[in-house]
Amino acid sequence: MLGHAGKILARSRFAIAFTGAGISAESGIPTFRGSNGLWRNYRAEELATPEAFRRNPRLVWDFYRWRMRKILEAKPNPAHYSLAELEKMGVLKAVITQNVDDLHREAGTKNLIELHGNIFRVRCTSCPYRENLKESGRVREFVEAEGLPRCPRCGSILRPDVVWFGEALPREALEEAFRLAEKADMVLVVGTSGVVYPAAYIPHIVKERGGKVIEVNVEKSGITPIADVFLRGKAGEILPKLVELVRGLR
Ligand code: APR
Ligand code: ZN
Repeated sequence: MLGHAGKILARSRFAIAFTGAGISAESGIPTFRGSNGLWRNYRAEELATPEAFRRNPRLVWDFYRWRMRKILEAKPNPAHYSLAELEKMGVLKAVITQNVDDLHREAGTKNLIELHGNIFRVRCTSCPYRENLKESGRVREFVEAEGLPRCPRCGSILRPDVVWFGEALPREALEEAFRLAEKADMVLVVGTSGVVYPAAYIPHIVKERGGKVIEVNVEKSGITPIADVFLRGKAGEILPKLVELVRGLR
């Protein structure tokens, strides 16, 4: 199975990766679905919504501060580094992620498409103000603060610059992701339940255009039925092996 996947990847002309929360699980970041996805007995689906934010912005900000803390404690794992390495080798042309944790970037991936935003960016709920907290050096301040963060321009409440359930995805990122999927002759799908759309269209587009789908997951997902190769196991263990195989074949 692994050998077959290695051959497909090594022979590919335009490979892309599509990742979800599972790729960061071994970095200690809780996934959304499954028993590890709970926070104070809430499911992410109950908190990551515009309605929840309207009803109780403090609760939602507490949830995001908790996630930011978890993410700040985390480092990229061998799975993130393997994808960065495949890009350096010229095999992988882009990583399309649903994750907001920045770990692909930390691991060195250059062509990164973030479909669901980034947890280290905030934006104003009433004016165009946006801020990248890593760039402005205010991450710590944000994580440690209590109450509601306010816009320095207009005083309205700030919100995380992430995509919540029921919200549209950033247009440019989605268009770029679809463009890449249409061009790709294979997609490496890693650690996603593959049930959240439109993101989950990505592997389907590749498949429909005749490309191959290789999946890495600890369990079956919404993508498994269209996978040409399903590699069951931890991303951090399987991807480094795949990189070595590809290196041997190129
Ligand atoms: N290696 C590989 N796969 C793993 C690992 C691991 N170590 N650990 C968990 N997984 C798999 C799980 O089996 C599951 O299929 O990762 C997947 C995680 O699924 P979700 O928690 O649903 O995450 P994701 O698919 O990224 O969710 C999509 O939903 O909540 C929204 O916007 C949020 O971007 C997120 C979107
Ligand atoms: Zn504002």
